[in-house]
Amino acid sequence: MSKVYQIATIDSNNIPHVRSHVSRGILYPKGSPSLPILLTSTDIRTAKVTQMLSNSRVELAWWMEGSQEQFRVNGRAYIIPPPSHPFHTMQSFPPGSSLEKLTQRGADDSDYTTSEGGYDWEKKRREVFNAMSPGMKASWATPPPGTVLKSYDEANSWPSTLPRLEEADNDEDRKTLEYALGNFALVLIDPLEVDWVQLGIKPNRRTKFTRNESLGDGDEWTEEITIP
Ligand SMILES: Cc1cc2nc3c(=O)[nH]c(=O)nc-3n(C[C@H](O)[C@H](O)[C@H](O)COP(=O)(O)O)c2cc1C
Repeated sequence: MSKVYQIATIDSNNIPHVRSHVSRGILYPKGSPSLPILLTSTDIRTAKVTQMLSNSRVELAWWMEGSQEQFRVNGRAYIIPPPSHPFHTMQSFPPGSSLEKLTQRGADDSDYTTSEGGYDWEKKRREVFNAMSPGMKASWATPPPGTVLKSYDEANSWPSTLPRLEEADNDEDRKTLEYALGNFALVLIDPLEVDWVQLGIKPNRRTKFTRNESLGDGDEWTEEITIP
């Protein structure tokens, strides 16, 4: 499976923006295998975060080279920032959304279950960060993304690697890790429509799935075959 998809957002001036993201997995609320939530990550200081907070509707395009399939997933994006970040209080999961279900019921993966039976987002955020390569971890310790540089050479003064959280053995690394983790956010996409194109079969096939959300366990996907 390809690890990279492109997520499109719309900013507050109705201008579209698209960028590549690495898939960091798919989460399912406990007992709901038909409610996948796509997980990726970002820097809380990037433009996409402000765009997602002002308009949570996004679309992502995921091309599977091997099987020649395209998935276009339209849904709502949510940001999981550090608990102390001001963005933390700016979003709530809509009643009936997969994210509300996951947050309340936890996931099938019990590693992230809180003592109340819900989902431990902060543990997940720290673990996704910790699993990044040393070079990737350091990318959250730069000055704010998008800042104009006078010279490319400035980048040589930034940290180039960071250890795992439990392996930091000096104050400088601990401080830099804390700063990096403070910029690290999870991005979740809760799908509402999926447009699936199969180019690996002849004739090509296109299927549209639409989700009807339900407060309880009655979420249903309807399926229609359409002309590619
Ligand atoms: C292959 C590839 C994978 C990427 N993965 C991510 C990612 O997972 N998260 C992320 O924030 N940016 C990722 N980026 C960088 C983004 O595409 C984008 O340049 C950056 O996040 C700034 O986007 P924004 O200004 O629209 O917020 C990736 C870029 C490439 C080329």
